[in-house]
Amino acid sequence: MKTQIESMRARFCEQAAAADTPDKLEELRIAYLGKKGEITGLLKELRALPDDEKKEAGRLINALKEEAENTVARRTEELRNAAEESAVRHARRYNPTIPHTADHGSYHPITLVQRELEEIFTGMGFTVEDYPEIVTDYQCFASLNIPPYHPARDMQDTFYLENGQLLKTQTSAAQNHIMRKYGPPLRAIFPGRCFRNEATDACHENTFFQMEGLMIDKDISISNLIYFMKTMLSEVFARPIRVRLRPGYFPFTEPGFELDINCLICGGEGCPSCKNSGWLELCPCGMVHPNVLREGGIDPELYTGFAFGLGLTRLAMMKYGIKDIRDLNAGNLPILAQFGNR
Ligand code: DAH
Repeated sequence: MKTQIESMRARFCEQAAAADTPDKLEELRIAYLGKKGEITGLLKELRALPDDEKKEAGRLINALKEEAENTVARRTEELRNAAEESAVRHARRYNPTIPHTADHGSYHPITLVQRELEEIFTGMGFTVEDYPEIVTDYQCFASLNIPPYHPARDMQDTFYLENGQLLKTQTSAAQNHIMRKYGPPLRAIFPGRCFRNEATDACHENTFFQMEGLMIDKDISISNLIYFMKTMLSEVFARPIRVRLRPGYFPFTEPGFELDINCLICGGEGCPSCKNSGWLELCPCGMVHPNVLREGGIDPELYTGFAFGLGLTRLAMMKYGIKDIRDLNAGNLPILAQFGNR
């Protein structure tokens, strides 16, 4: 049996070194360590051995098993890191001046990020909601604890229509509708296009995307908020992400926060991208204000919830290394085609 174990070990090592994707390593793991795997099979054969051989063979097989498990885990990690590095290099290669060669369409980078987030959140039990871009004052402001003449309205320079409606300045505008549509408990995300009368530059646009999230249930606390944000961001960036909360003011939250993540460029040491702080501001969020719950027909004595307003446009820029926000709305095919088939 000893030689059998040795040759299995040699074969496994060779195949593990040749496996060049996490999927292939998973296949290898199943082939050796799965229920019907080869190493598992050896362990079963052990029973038939005479007692004096059993002990030594058992030790060898268990050592092989441990080695195989560690190798699969280590190689998977190595391959993931390599894929991530190449994605980052690819993002840096993004070049707004290269000529258009693709003869087929491709998804817009915001669509790609949006779909990825939708998949992550539906996996955690959230529904995905759609909502109009033209809304009422009540939806965008009053239902969110921002009455007429509230100074918070100044923070969002709004496009008003002649009929008194407006172009939504924030995806939060759908919160009230969704609370009334489902009632508690609820988990929903609602991506959408938002509009503000901004002076445009590389970081500001009059048209951008956000993704709002809302979770309401009994006993929801800030810990739930942190858990969901951390899980989502670690999946988006395919690595563990550290987050921190700072106080932030939004009339529709109590308390409200700015959520920062550790800088992806320097890993938190401090660099020009994070203004040497080690942190990047990513997502405003908070516990839903009791007035907002009440306005949505939900009893704040029984239910609590959290909400967040993730900047989808900003996230796409970070993920793909896009330096000028205006490239995203320019309808410039050579630029957009570079993100195709990702
Ligand atoms: N709607 C806010 C904005 O655009 C962002 C926001 C802050 C959304 C806190 C939230 C929240 O859901 O809880 O500035």
